[in-house]
Amino acid sequence: MRRVLLVGALALVFGAATPLHAQTASALPPGEGRDLVATACSQCHTLNVIMAGRDGPVGWKKHVYNMVLRGAQLTPREADTVIQYLITNFGPGAPAATAAALPSGPGKELVETRCAVCHNLERVTVVKRQKRDWETVVANMYERWGMSAPDEVQAISAYLVAQFGRD
Ligand code: HEC
Ligand code: HEC
Repeated sequence: MRRVLLVGALALVFGAATPLHAQTASALPPGEGRDLVATACSQCHTLNVIMAGRDGPVGWKKHVYNMVLRGAQLTPREADTVIQYLITNFGPGAPAATAAALPSGPGKELVETRCAVCHNLERVTVVKRQKRDWETVVANMYERWGMSAPDEVQAISAYLVAQFGRD
């Protein structure tokens, strides 16, 4: 009951990000705790941070407590559920994560063609950023590249804000 209420409250608070949650939840392996992870662990960074790594029981417990200290919204009981879920699905020897595909949306192809030429897309998709921070990053990348393409900068920034933005 309590958990349903909490998740409901989070959905309200982070209402704007709901479609992204639906999408990211489906990227996670099924199991008890999946929705908790999808909701509580995707506010500051994307779930790629979790899906790309493997750790043992002690390691996952540390990560989760560390994240609760940073502000992840979990009751102690929920934290236990999440830890168990992570150990089960992302423990030592768990199959390698399938490369996370970019969510579809206008600008996706530009990101794929422009933003993976100097580093991989993981660099782009792991951290959620505020609108002005994305705009700065994208402008910087074009500057590094020695390219001037204001239309592309705008389209890519809009895509990244929509998919990997935070308030
Ligand atoms: C309030 C913001 C916030 C929330 C919510 C959050 N994290 Fe994090 N997380 C961070 C920050 C900031 C970092 C990078 C700094 C660091 O490594 O401590 C990070 C890094 C990580 C890392 C990489 C750590 C490493 O050493 O490489 C993992 C794994 C992780 N988070 C898992 C989680 C899990 C699991 C949840 C949900 C229980 C979660 N995060 C929720 C802020 C958050
Ligand atoms: C010309 C090469 C180049 C291109 C093209 C490029 N990047 Fe980068 N990017 C870099 C380099 C080099 C770094 C590391 C810079 C650093 O750490 O100071 C970096 C770092 C980043 C970071 C991490 C920045 C941080 O402060 O944490 C992000 C996010 C990023 N790039 C996004 C993008 C996006 C989005 C695009 C497509 C618009 C893109 N990059 C295209 C060279 C490039």
